[in-house]
Amino acid sequence: MSGAPVRVGVVGFGYWGPNLVRNLDKLADADLVVACDTNEANLAKFSALYPYAATTTDLAAFLADYSLDAVVVATSAPAHFVIARAVIEAGKHCFVEKPLTLTSADAEELVRIAAERDVVLMVGHLMVYHSAVTYIKEVIESGELGDVLYLYAQRLNLGKVRVEENAFWSLAPHDVSIVHYLLGEAPDSVSANGAAYLNDGVEDTVFANLHFPSGRMANIHVSWLDPHKTRKFTIVGTKKMLVFDDMEATEKIWIYDKGVGAPSDAMAFGEDLTLRFGEIKAPFLKMAEPLSLEVQHFLDCCRNGQTPRSSGREGLEVVRVLEAVSESMRTGGAPVATGLETA
Ligand SMILES: NC(=O)c1ccc[n+]([C@@H]2O[C@H](COP(=O)([O-])OP(=O)(O)OC[C@H]3O[C@@H](n4cnc5c(N)ncnc54)[C@H](O)[C@@H]3O)[C@@H](O)[C@H]2O)c1
Repeated sequence: MSGAPVRVGVVGFGYWGPNLVRNLDKLADADLVVACDTNEANLAKFSALYPYAATTTDLAAFLADYSLDAVVVATSAPAHFVIARAVIEAGKHCFVEKPLTLTSADAEELVRIAAERDVVLMVGHLMVYHSAVTYIKEVIESGELGDVLYLYAQRLNLGKVRVEENAFWSLAPHDVSIVHYLLGEAPDSVSANGAAYLNDGVEDTVFANLHFPSGRMANIHVSWLDPHKTRKFTIVGTKKMLVFDDMEATEKIWIYDKGVGAPSDAMAFGEDLTLRFGEIKAPFLKMAEPLSLEVQHFLDCCRNGQTPRSSGREGLEVVRVLEAVSESMRTGGAPVATGLETA
């Protein structure tokens, strides 16, 4: 592509689409050209904010008439696959909100046709663009925490209750993608329990355990039925422990020099393990809006053909984990293989 701004169209201007568009419109590398939505009232809201861009309810015209380089798909999840497939088949770079699709077969097809057409396929795993997550990745790779033993994530709130997908499909793509990114591996099996207290058949509260080929484990707890808005991540390493609390305005990360160890010869005598309580630090984090970093990354990938950090393949792997969690919940928490160890 030339150095000209990337000509971008957006499909879906409901709750989340406006956030993506607000960020796209601010970036010099993007030219916001047109929005497509089946809901005329939402298109009217778009026009009021971006009068210089066109609108349409017709996806075929959207893809054919505006010389778009790239498309951002922010419809509700059930529409992702059909729209993303049309976008890729039209030869345009494609950003799809999470979850990439509702089945791994659909995700595989998108990954395959994007490779065939040589277009970028990126999924909106927003959290892997969060400055805190980037920082934590550096801390882990520096060895400061020692070996990561296990981690757990809590993403809880009262609402937003959805009916077209359960709380795990709605919220946990963030946590699964963070875990994959931080650990550099995907789980080979999962086991999960969930309950549908609010709407029959749609789990609003889920506890999932992810087991990794390295022997590490992660627990993800998501809920729409909780008194506290919680966005918390805890990582326990052999040397130190780290807590990332995204509800904190400034001190989002705390690193605890705490652990359990034995004096070099204590084990030989069968003595008790010793607890270590050391310094606690809250490192300074230079924060940028994750959504802005995410859309800039998409534009960069469109420009230089680079594989996105949250690639279509990563989107597929997350969908495999989501499917395995659903299967485990159906079978009362039985372990379910993800098939990812050989992927
Ligand atoms: N990254 C995040 O943190 C985050 C947060 C919220 C939502 N999301 C994701 O964003 C996506 C949209 O969620 P939402 O809450 O905005 O949903 P929404 O239902 O509020 O909005 C979806 C919009 O898409 C339109 N639409 C639906 N089907 C369409 C079709 N076939 N053609 C054209 N337009 C169509 C609807 O009319 C609506 O305007 C979902 O994938 C969701 O998971 C991501």
